Amino acid sequence: MSLFEIRAKDGMARLGIYTTKHGKVHTPLLMPVIHPAKSSITPAQLREEFGFQMVITNSYIIKSKDKFREKALSEGVHGLINFDGPIMTDSGTFQMYFHNLPEEEIDPLEIVDFQKSIGSDIGTILDAFSEPNVGRQQVEHDVKKSLERAKISVGRKEDMLLAGTIQGGIFPDLREHSAKMMATMDFDVHPIGGVVPLMESYRYSDIVRITLASKRHLPFNRPVHLFGCGHPMLLAQAAFLGCDFFDSALYAKFAESDRYVTPTGTLHLGNLRELPCECVVCNSFTADDMNQMKRDERVLHLMRHNLYVTIGEMKRVRQAIVDGKLFELVAARARSHPNLFNALQTMLHYVEQIEKEYPVANSTSILYTGIENARHPVAYRFHSRVKNRYPYSHTRQMLLFPDIGGRPFYETAPLPIQEVRKTEAEEMLILFVTPMGVIPWELEHVYPAQQCIYPEYLDTESIISVGQKLQEVLDLISAEKIIWLSRNDPMNKVHELINTQSAIVHTQTVSEVIEELDIQATTEKHWMLRKLRAIMAHQWNLRVNFDVIKKWEISISKGTGKMRHVKNEDDILFTIVPTTGTLAPTYAGGLVLQDIGISDDYLVTIDDEVSEYIIKGKSALAKFVRFASPNLRPGEEVLIADSAKRLLGTGRALLSGPEMLAMNRGVAVTTRHSKD
Ligand code: GUN
Ligand code: ZN
Repeated sequence: MSLFEIRAKDGMARLGIYTTKHGKVHTPLLMPVIHPAKSSITPAQLREEFGFQMVITNSYIIKSKDKFREKALSEGVHGLINFDGPIMTDSGTFQMYFHNLPEEEIDPLEIVDFQKSIGSDIGTILDAFSEPNVGRQQVEHDVKKSLERAKISVGRKEDMLLAGTIQGGIFPDLREHSAKMMATMDFDVHPIGGVVPLMESYRYSDIVRITLASKRHLPFNRPVHLFGCGHPMLLAQAAFLGCDFFDSALYAKFAESDRYVTPTGTLHLGNLRELPCECVVCNSFTADDMNQMKRDERVLHLMRHNLYVTIGEMKRVRQAIVDGKLFELVAARARSHPNLFNALQTMLHYVEQIEKEYPVANSTSILYTGIENARHPVAYRFHSRVKNRYPYSHTRQMLLFPDIGGRPFYETAPLPIQEVRKTEAEEMLILFVTPMGVIPWELEHVYPAQQCIYPEYLDTESIISVGQKLQEVLDLISAEKIIWLSRNDPMNKVHELINTQSAIVHTQTVSEVIEELDIQATTEKHWMLRKLRAIMAHQWNLRVNFDVIKKWEISISKGTGKMRHVKNEDDILFTIVPTTGTLAPTYAGGLVLQDIGISDDYLVTIDDEVSEYIIKGKSALAKFVRFASPNLRPGEEVLIADSAKRLLGTGRALLSGPEMLAMNRGVAVTTRHSKD
């Protein structure tokens, strides 16, 4: 029974709730590392003053000191450190590595039993730590040892939650192997281990590769812990990659050497004339005050500052997930160190893996501030869908409209659009060429086309990336003639980058464009149908026949020119979510989609015993999901059905298909409309 619940998603990050014997915690979370005796800030203070929910301490240190061991055995680890919230314990792996202790120093089963006997909420196996610079053979040996120990440890956990650490050094395939094997065992949490030396030497790209390799095989319903990672500058990126737990000894370790942590890096207190921070410590003292304090006092205040900054960033990460803004935070942090910037680029090499978990359609805007936005997973998805799903593949005339602004596009090109609206797709297509990619006019209001805001200055790399995307699209759509509107727009340079068989006519003004157009006017109703058909294709990979949809009524908002809803006789079939341009089917719309033959990728079936709850409009809980496609992305508009595929309702998926199947807590699909 998994104790993890996902409440919201952004990137691969999960805003979750994890239940322990000592209460629930909200993830992503950071646990301060507590030394059983030496902590000058107590766990209770960490909770009350700073808001930390859970702490981590070391069972090996407790076990090896008589006075700690006796007290922990009689009063539990909660009594020993005087904390009644959740406590995780580590096993001594890191001490073995760091102090180069002999193999016999810690017995892997004894240490698990010991953690259990002191009442740890989450214990950790004695994994074998691989140094980053040892050869592959040694790492293979360590992975094997960790897996053997995992196998014997997991049977002993009883009612303690147990963490099974993934090792594998810097070798993604060994991480994958390790994760695959660990996933088959009954663990509750999976730390990714062996990363501390990588962090200390700024090898962030390695951490990205390792994390993504491990995540490929770890069950969605177990929190992932990036072991020993607690620097605020790394939290956004690691959370984005799906890490849920972090721990930090750094607040204290850094304070002892006068290191002052910030979300963008570490400063040395001795170099500071100002304290560039809003925390209470930095508001109570000047840099001079701090530098002149006695060492113990200074260390204590630096520790407090380091804690405030770290938990502040953790909160910022959680809020960014709620807002769908985590990618922006990751990109901002990537600007603070070249190696973090490299790590962001490394991450974007794996955009295909990330996209699978990225929520579809979110209501916040994308503020374009650099090339990473062109490689944003949602831009990648949009472009893939334009290539694979856009239903119009040939046209007599294509109008290419470079554009960095004016939202919606409808307003930037009203006259040509007026004309295009009169035509059939085979007569004329219009494509906007924007920094995020190529946007067919039919999809102008669909996320993220409508939600991007661009600067006027565009770097060459962004322009080249648009050129590549445009080329790919032009290779798929045949056009007899292309009319390119050359305006004073940064996007205009893109025309130098493309290669096409079609005749290109360059025009300078909108009226020239209109003169070039050869319009054989038909009915205006076609444009709405064309749009609707393109959106249905984009959203559900459906090719609907015009004959099916031509009797539908599409209502348009007079103010914005956007579709509002689609009706068939008296039934509303779809409403359009105004912020995302997405079609939300009603129950009648769901039936129509079934009729048209929507793929099972957009179907979630649930246990028949709970059908009536969906019919009454309740959300579909993950634990009742029987089928969900591996291709289902979070955020999609889906059909909810019973085991015989009888439609019960429609709604928005909160989780991906694989997540729905893995989770047994929380909501899988928020029901929008139901049979009743
Ligand atoms: N603390 C920091 N890194 C590690 C690791 O790889 N394993 C364990 N058990 N603890 C750690
Ligand atoms: Zn401060």
